[in-house]
Amino acid sequence: MERLAALTFGQTLLAVFSLGDKFREVQRLHEQHGPVIRIGPNHLSIASPETFSQIYVKRCRAFLKSDFYATIQPGIGPKYSGLFNYTDHQRAVAERKDLQARLSPAALRQYEARFLPILDTLVAVLREKRDVDLFAYFKFLMLDAIGDLAFDQSFHQLESGEEHQYVVDFNNAFMLIGLQTTFAWIIPFIPFLPSQSLKDAYYGLQRVFKYAQTRVDAFLNEEKPKPGTLMEAFLKDGKPKDPYTRWHIALAGHGFIIAGSEASSITLTYVLWLLVKHPHVQRKLREELKGLPQDYKSTDLASLPFLDAVLKETLRIYPPAPSAMPRVVPPSGAEIEGVYYPGKTIIAAQPYTIHRDPNLFPEPEIFRPERWIEPPPDRRELMNQAFVPFSAGQRGCIGRGLAWIHMQITIAKLLENFDSFKLTKGMTDEDMELVERGALAKPKATKLSVRVFPKEVPGFAVA
Ligand code: HEM
Repeated sequence: MERLAALTFGQTLLAVFSLGDKFREVQRLHEQHGPVIRIGPNHLSIASPETFSQIYVKRCRAFLKSDFYATIQPGIGPKYSGLFNYTDHQRAVAERKDLQARLSPAALRQYEARFLPILDTLVAVLREKRDVDLFAYFKFLMLDAIGDLAFDQSFHQLESGEEHQYVVDFNNAFMLIGLQTTFAWIIPFIPFLPSQSLKDAYYGLQRVFKYAQTRVDAFLNEEKPKPGTLMEAFLKDGKPKDPYTRWHIALAGHGFIIAGSEASSITLTYVLWLLVKHPHVQRKLREELKGLPQDYKSTDLASLPFLDAVLKETLRIYPPAPSAMPRVVPPSGAEIEGVYYPGKTIIAAQPYTIHRDPNLFPEPEIFRPERWIEPPPDRRELMNQAFVPFSAGQRGCIGRGLAWIHMQITIAKLLENFDSFKLTKGMTDEDMELVERGALAKPKATKLSVRVFPKEVPGFAVA
């Protein structure tokens, strides 16, 4: 355990909590002190891709999610926990098995028919505009799409140009999650406190649950429901199957909206920004897209290596979930790569750091999609193992395939419909710095202001 002694507890806490974003401080500490550092009394951070793979993939049944996950659920108590919060591995695996059929490649192809009209609305709206905040529109797009997928009804924000009350409410309610980790006992007393913002959060969360339950009831009461929602995963003969209830389905739907919308909109925002900042990459991507058939589908896009490389390189440098994902070392302790970890230690690896391993990604801060095209044979597998924006293994992101399709089609449609995007005056590189805001990390300015130049006739020709 010699490497652990590199940092004292006091030094670590000071460094991690006193300055800037936690993921960046942890990265800095790894650069200074090596691949294993202490970031809390009983809490280690690991910077090795192999150890990442051991914890999250190969031995994930033994390294369970820590109690931290119970503190980030949308209400207090077991009643409110969803898949993301489960620390019980068997329970999570069983629920994931039920969901898998709805997220299989075949189901996603069927789902595409639901997504395309929503994306067409985005394109139509943008074609009418001149200066837009693309981040705001990508948020509308992904929320409308996941609302439709989870609850069989889009929020129609692209059409209205306004946030749906459900979205306003759950954004306000994030404040309660902060309270849950510190002063949970205060929450039931909020209606009696003189704070309007706390009341907004409290009543907002109740409206969120009400909306979710109303949507589930409406779906279950339909005679011929339109196929392709995630709710179907929890049903048999049109009714909730054991062990699920209507409440469970409502909570799961809400969980999908939170987990499945913003990360994709953040990634799309970074892709567009990087394409504007690297015109040669944009040209090369347009060249590749030119080969698509006119009525292309996600299956056509799946075989485009450069599109894949652009997305991967974007997520490598700007993972929307860059921070540690805490797991508990099994009670008997564990040895990984020659380091012994005592039982019950909280151990975590953060994608932000794994993605910056200079042995696998030379000049890690440089955006170079080409590094994913024909990488050196001895590095290819290791690079893929170290690409973990969705985490990995049995508790990795269940929506990865869905997110990939959403992002691929959206990029293709935008390049097909617009000649170019120019940053609006005043948009700086600093505005796009990745910073932690709530559960995710996003551009510091929380906007991407661009002027859009629609094509008269859609197509992939370079202007
Ligand atoms: C670019 C888009 C996305 C990124 C970067 C992303 C990232 C992640 C990461 C890193 C985790 C693991 C978190 C942890 O262990 O603490 C995760 C879990 C999860 N994601 Fe995603 N995600 C994305 C899109 C989606 C979508 C579209 C959905 C579904 C509609 C989704 C649903 C979930 C769920 C339910 C979990 C919890 C799985 C479990 O605990 O078993 N995500 N995601």
